[in-house]
Amino acid sequence: NEDEFERSFKEMLSTLPKGNSWGNFENLFQYQGFWLYPTYLKGVVSAQQQFQAQPSDIMLCSFPKTGTTWLKSLIFSIITRTSFDDSTCPLLSKSPHDVVPFMELHHAHFSTHRDLGIPVLATHAPYSSLPRSIIDSGCRIVYICRDPKDSFVSLYHFKVQIIRTSKNTQAQPIDLNEAFELFCEGENIYGPYCDHVLGYWKASVEHPDKIMFLKYEEMKDETVLYVNKLAEFIGYPFSLEEHKKGVAEKIVKKCSFENLSNLEVNKSEKDYRKVIQNKMFFRKGKVGDWKNYLTPEMAARLDQIIQQKLSGSGLSL
Ligand code: A3P
Repeated sequence: NEDEFERSFKEMLSTLPKGNSWGNFENLFQYQGFWLYPTYLKGVVSAQQQFQAQPSDIMLCSFPKTGTTWLKSLIFSIITRTSFDDSTCPLLSKSPHDVVPFMELHHAHFSTHRDLGIPVLATHAPYSSLPRSIIDSGCRIVYICRDPKDSFVSLYHFKVQIIRTSKNTQAQPIDLNEAFELFCEGENIYGPYCDHVLGYWKASVEHPDKIMFLKYEEMKDETVLYVNKLAEFIGYPFSLEEHKKGVAEKIVKKCSFENLSNLEVNKSEKDYRKVIQNKMFFRKGKVGDWKNYLTPEMAARLDQIIQQKLSGSGLSL
């Protein structure tokens, strides 16, 4: 039951290595090789214990700040394209995070009960920490990754924004250089980044029919192509008629940064998960913004760490 879970979770937490806080009011804790805040960790542990994936589920997996919001809106639009028209699409009035929930935040807490409107669930959990049933059920997994330099810059800004808007007076925005050091060490939410990416990469090489591996930059470059691939992979391919009508192109336009970030709902300061506002998920949506924040030396250092870790894997970032 709930009390029992709380008690055993607290007990387990007290045994885990404690990390930095990134200016947060909570510290990171290392669990199964990755750093998580207790709120997320509780959801992951709870999901590991009781989440029952169905073979028809689609799991959208990512490291934070690599394009989760975008991919949520694209997958949601692909799946529901015949249920709504231009004026009734829920993405007009809801944040992508409200139409595709996170496993560790919304669906795992003390319940085996599932009420997914559509069969898509997102998670930032690393591959090695996914609930067993996700692997065993053979459900489809879509993973998105991004240039770690841009992911870092995006994560840094996200953290600073959260702390600035938080009512907790103890929270102090972290300094960019300090955050960068921690990121290079892998001590960041759901870090180390490389291990997160590699876990899904290796699994996708082993099971290409079950795990689709995407890169933010490639998606930006050829979004229509990837939306077609995505639709096919998750089992909702576009028909010939839909191709003629340009349905994929319309979805791409609807889910573009420009379109989504200008919707009232996504400009809103509405509290999402208490401290996170909808608008925080839309910053710039660009490739290479790291150049405005990292020195060439910092970039070279992170690139070298990444190259070293990825060497021999067949993946380059
Ligand atoms: P930047 O901070 O570089 O702008 P996540 O959704 O995983 O939290 O990632 C957030 C990043 O994706 C942010 O990057 C955000 O601006 C960008 N993003 C959000 N919506 C997007 C969209 N529709 N298309 C492209 N990028 C988007």
